[in-house]
Amino acid sequence: MTAPAIRTVPTQPVEGQKPGTSGLRKKTRVFMQPGYLENFTQALFDAIGGVQGRTLVVGGDGRFFNDRAIQIILRMAAANGVARAIVGQGGILSTPAASHLIRLRGTDGGIILSASHNPGGEDEDFGMKFNGPNGGPAPESVTDAIFARTTELAEYRTLDTPDLDLSARGETALGGMTVEIVDPVADYAALMERLFDFAAIRDLFASGFSMRFDAMHAVTGPYAREILENRLGAPAGTVLNGTPSPDFGGGHPDPNPVWARPLVDLMMGEGAPDFAAASDGDGDRNMILGRGVYVTPSDSLAVLAANATCAPAYTGGLAGIARSMPTSRAADRVADRLGIGMYETPTGWKFFGNLLDAGRVTICGEESAGTGSDHVREKDGLWAVLLWLNILAARRLSVAEVMARHWAEFGRNYYSRHDYEAVAADRANALMDRLRSMTEFLPGQSFAGLTVEAADDFAYADPVDGSTSARQGIRVMFDDGSRVVFRLSGTGTEGATLRVYLERFAADRHDLPADQALAPVIAAAEALALIRDHTGRAAPDVTT
Ligand code: G6P
Ligand code: ZN
Repeated sequence: MTAPAIRTVPTQPVEGQKPGTSGLRKKTRVFMQPGYLENFTQALFDAIGGVQGRTLVVGGDGRFFNDRAIQIILRMAAANGVARAIVGQGGILSTPAASHLIRLRGTDGGIILSASHNPGGEDEDFGMKFNGPNGGPAPESVTDAIFARTTELAEYRTLDTPDLDLSARGETALGGMTVEIVDPVADYAALMERLFDFAAIRDLFASGFSMRFDAMHAVTGPYAREILENRLGAPAGTVLNGTPSPDFGGGHPDPNPVWARPLVDLMMGEGAPDFAAASDGDGDRNMILGRGVYVTPSDSLAVLAANATCAPAYTGGLAGIARSMPTSRAADRVADRLGIGMYETPTGWKFFGNLLDAGRVTICGEESAGTGSDHVREKDGLWAVLLWLNILAARRLSVAEVMARHWAEFGRNYYSRHDYEAVAADRANALMDRLRSMTEFLPGQSFAGLTVEAADDFAYADPVDGSTSARQGIRVMFDDGSRVVFRLSGTGTEGATLRVYLERFAADRHDLPADQALAPVIAAAEALALIRDHTGRAAPDVTT
């Protein structure tokens, strides 16, 4: 058989191919335009210095266009000289499983197709990101280089070959490239089995402990079934919505109290199971619930860090903890008590990569439902669920008891996030510009009864490589220890989303509803930022 000829296709730069917080995210139809995905893929290959002779992992969360996109990328990879592509069977790989595979196999990186928690479908969202050889999202230096290349691209390379069958495991050739189709679950499940005390968790389930895991029709279904039901002995039916579908059953695969409402209602009602969790489209986010309790992601990070030594992987203790700036400071109290390093980074998992690689931190987390550790270089939804299970198995307490004891020991950082979605970009920018121009004059001023102690536009200097990132969100600290942060989302595909992050510390009195405890901070945020005037909204669209 003669190798298929490499075809060089002339093209023109496509505008707006600038990766955001987590890769390039656009409407699916935008990605489906002829040449769109091709241009971005070629720009990526060029920007990382070419891919001749390299090995790449390729997979995605199974959303609409995942299968087509993978065929296009594989042809282009072969035409650009890639030696080996490791592809999840059926084109499926969760984000943490892809990160693990990149590391396990020592590859040159990987391409992950996902728009994370955004809905999927022809009229919904699609995305593509590149992870480097450490398994983590490409740093800004790389995404900037990719973007720069998209603005000057004149041609891309591909093959004229029929689609590959990705449904069967094994090796096949595409031009000069070997395509290796692997079980997307096996290596990841084996890793989890090494990190956690599966015997203890099996005993917990055997003792009648009940759980529901909502895979939200997204990628974690097969992973959760294998790990929770097959390996840990949870009864069949523990995993809900466990079959991935290209449009995620028509829903938002976003594990928060809004989009996972049925699970929250189940946990707040009569006859709730002991524990529940959910993950997102590509499996990196998580939501944790106990009977009658919702654990905020910020609190979850603090509890996981404080109890990590329950799990075999972390018995030696933690090197340090990192959190994104808008995440509550609950974890800081744990780091302080443990006498370990605490790092505050901009929003986006990529900022944890250097800290993890340098061994400065072991556990990281974000308010946006992400928690993870140095086992991969992405946040990892099932990892968080398994660490919670390991802690519950070791301590034999309910989730409510774990939380109550944690707050009694450390105090409680009441926390909530208010989102104003699809706001006209000019109005959202006007709000942020106004705040930015005010920050230096804020200290000493009072808003709805709270006095500002300090305010800034968060800037980060990476302690490992010295790179800097400015304008990462307006932080306003009040003199009673409360804090409000204003930031525009970097992951939306329509207009702008304003996020207002609210936090108030209480040394005692830990049983108030969060909105009640936060009422003074909410009022101060409005008085300060004039959110209603700017957005034209009377209330946030989503409160988490
Ligand atoms: C993605 C990233 C997270 C980040 C989140 C923030 O999920 O993987 O690391 O926290 O986006 O999204 P935002 O919409 O607030 O920019
Ligand atoms: Zn995700």
